[in-house]
Amino acid sequence: MTETIIKPAPTKADISAALEKGLKNLWYPVCPSDWITDKPRALRRLGYKMALWRDSQGKVHALEDHCPHRGAPLSMGVNLGDRLACPYHGIEVRCDGMVTKVPASPGCPLENSRATLSFHVKEAAGAVWLYNSAANVMQAPQLNLPPEITDDEEWSHFLCYVEWAGDYRYVIDNVMDPMHGSFCTK
Ligand code: FES
Repeated sequence: MTETIIKPAPTKADISAALEKGLKNLWYPVCPSDWITDKPRALRRLGYKMALWRDSQGKVHALEDHCPHRGAPLSMGVNLGDRLACPYHGIEVRCDGMVTKVPASPGCPLENSRATLSFHVKEAAGAVWLYNSAANVMQAPQLNLPPEITDDEEWSHFLCYVEWAGDYRYVIDNVMDPMHGSFCTK
């Protein structure tokens, strides 16, 4: 005898909550590339508060914007290249989420622990892309984008960033209309 379990259909709230977090283990564009400078920037994306910054080589890094000590926003801290120093008590968190220094309490258990969620990021087609991993992962899969937005020889493209307080389905429907591209003057 087998038992059939019927799950209730997801509610509108369930769907909104899932959309807010995005699908896990996929790449998402999170902002235009020129938003990220050497001054750490806070963003809310995919259900997270994130801190993004560039190191001295221009490489973009992203951490959850939450200090593992008392939760201060790391985005308000100091850029130390591959690390951010928390603005509250100076804990240093490396771009892979590892706490490298606890100035007020050297040798405490937080030191050398991977206490902060870190995100893999890449830049392509004028945007910062972030891998929406469910947990800290050493390596993200390759970011595969269509040639229409990576091949500058064959195709032309432009990045359009807007925030609309509307249903995402209307937004997708609207931007599928190719007429706008021909009249865009940047
Ligand atoms: S809250 Fe960040 S070091 Fe204390």
